[in-house]
Amino acid sequence: MRRLIAAASTMFALALTLAISGIGPIWATEQNHSPIAEQESTNERGGAAGRLDGQAIFRYDTFGDEQLWTGVLRMHEAVATVDPATALAVGLKVDVDALPPAIIAALRAGDVDLTDPAVTKELLRLNAVVGIKGTVSTAGQLVSVGITCALCHSSVDDSFTKGIGKRLDGWANVDLNVGAIVALSPALPESLKAEFRSWGPGKYDPRHHAFDGVNLIPLNSPSVPVVLPSIFGLKGVGFETFTGDGPISYWNSYVGVGQMGGHGSFSDPRVGIAITQTPDLVTPKLPALLEYQLSLRTPPPPAGSFDPAAVRRGSRLFRNEAACASCHSGPRYTDVLDGPNGGVPFLHEPSEVGTDPTYAARTATGKYRTTPLRGLWQHAPYFHDGSAPDLLAVVNHYDRLFGLHLTAGQKADLVEFLKTL
Ligand code: HEC
Ligand code: HEC
Repeated sequence: MRRLIAAASTMFALALTLAISGIGPIWATEQNHSPIAEQESTNERGGAAGRLDGQAIFRYDTFGDEQLWTGVLRMHEAVATVDPATALAVGLKVDVDALPPAIIAALRAGDVDLTDPAVTKELLRLNAVVGIKGTVSTAGQLVSVGITCALCHSSVDDSFTKGIGKRLDGWANVDLNVGAIVALSPALPESLKAEFRSWGPGKYDPRHHAFDGVNLIPLNSPSVPVVLPSIFGLKGVGFETFTGDGPISYWNSYVGVGQMGGHGSFSDPRVGIAITQTPDLVTPKLPALLEYQLSLRTPPPPAGSFDPAAVRRGSRLFRNEAACASCHSGPRYTDVLDGPNGGVPFLHEPSEVGTDPTYAARTATGKYRTTPLRGLWQHAPYFHDGSAPDLLAVVNHYDRLFGLHLTAGQKADLVEFLKTL
C-alpha cells in the first residue's frame, strides 16, 4: 500500500508516545538508547560481518529506488547521452578498483574517448560510477538507473586522475552537483529544473519534496539547499542531523525512502510524512547500515597542513577567550547530548548562532544542533547552508556575532586549530 498523509499537529504527541513506549518504527526504538550504549553493543551486534554488509548496502544498495530514478524521472534516458567528461564535471566519481586492467591501461594510454557516452554506459555496466547503479541490457541499452548512499557521502582519492581513484566512504562529495544531475531528467518541468540547477555543487535540499512510491510530493518551497555533510566520525555524537531530528537510522530511513525513493516505509508526523510501501527494502537494512557508518573514522589532516605552535594557541582560544567550547564541548565538540534528558537533543535557536532560520523551520525541531567538528579541512564550505566559504569566514562570523574582538593573529591561530580537527 502506498500513501502519504498530511499530519495533524496533534499527531506529534502520539509520535512521542510511540517513541517513548518503544512501539513504532525501528528508529523510534533506537532513540530510547543512549548513543553511547548504542556503540558499546556494536561489536556484539555484527562485528566485521555486519560492517561488510553495511558497506555493501552503503555503496551498492538502491533499495529499489529505480522506481523514482528510472520509473518517474527517466534518468536512464538522460544518462545514456552523457559522456564521461561531463559526468566527471558534475562531480560524479569513478571507482578505480572496479575497472579491469585492460580499461586502466587504455585510460593510461589515452585510448579511451571521454567524450563518448558509450563509455559512460560501460562504466555503469562495470559498477564503477560511485553511488549510481545502472543496468545495461544484453543489447547494450541502459535500461535502469538508481542511486545509493555513496552518491552524496563518498568521494575518491583522485589517485588515478581527478575524479577517478579509490573510494573514500563517508567523505562528503563536495563536487557533486545533485541539482544539475536531477535537472537532466526529461520528466521534470523547466521551472523545477531551474530551481534545482541553482543549488550548485556540494548541496541538496532534503526538505523540498518527498517521493511516496508513486508521486513526488511537495514539502517546502522555494528550496533551501544545504551542504552534503561528511558522515565519518559520528561515533558517540547522537542526533546526527543539522537539526537533531533523530538518530542516524531515523535519518537514513527519511532519506532512503522519501528522498532516494527506495521501496520502503517511513513516517514522521512532525514533518507531515507517512509513506508505506511493502515489501520494505529499507528498514531491515538500517542496523547494518548504522554499524557501517559508525565505523567510518575521521581522516587526519594532511601532514604539514598546519602550524603546531599556532594550533596550541588556537586550542586555548577555542576553550577560553573565544568560548567556542561552551557549545562545541567534549571529545565530539558538540553539546547535543548535554541536555537533562539523554533521549532529547540539546539544540540552539538559529538566532543564538546567527545562521539562517529557514531550513530549521522546515524540520522537526526548528533549531540547530552544535555541529560535531571533525574533518573540517575536508569539507568547506561551512554551516548547514554553506554560508561560510572557509574557516576564516566561520571565525569572522562568530567574532562579529559574539563581539569577541579577536586580533588577526588570534583568528589565524583559531583557524589553524580548526584545520586539525
Ligand atoms: C542526494 C544526496 C544524499 C543522499 C543520496 C544521501 N544523503 Fe545523507 N545527507 C544529505 C544531506 C543534504 C544531509 C544533511 C541534512 C540534514 O542534516 O538536515 C545528509 C545527512 C546525513 C547524515 C547526518 C550527517 C551529519 O552529521 O549531519 C547521515 C548520517 C547521512 N546523511 C547518511 C546517509 C545514508 C546512510 C544514506 C543512504 C541511505 C544517505 N545519507 C543518502 C544528502 C544525501
Ligand atoms: C552558542 C553555541 C555555539 C558557540 C558559542 C559556537 N558554536 Fe560553532 N556551531 C554551533 C551551531 C549550532 C552550529 C551549526 C550552525 C548551522 O549550521 O547553521 C555551529 C557550527 C560551527 C561550524 C561549522 C561546522 C561544519 O562542519 O559546517 C564551525 C567550524 C564552528 N561552529 C566553529 C565554532 C568556533 C570556532 C566557535 C568559537 C569562535 C564556535 N563555533 C562557537 C554552535 C556554537
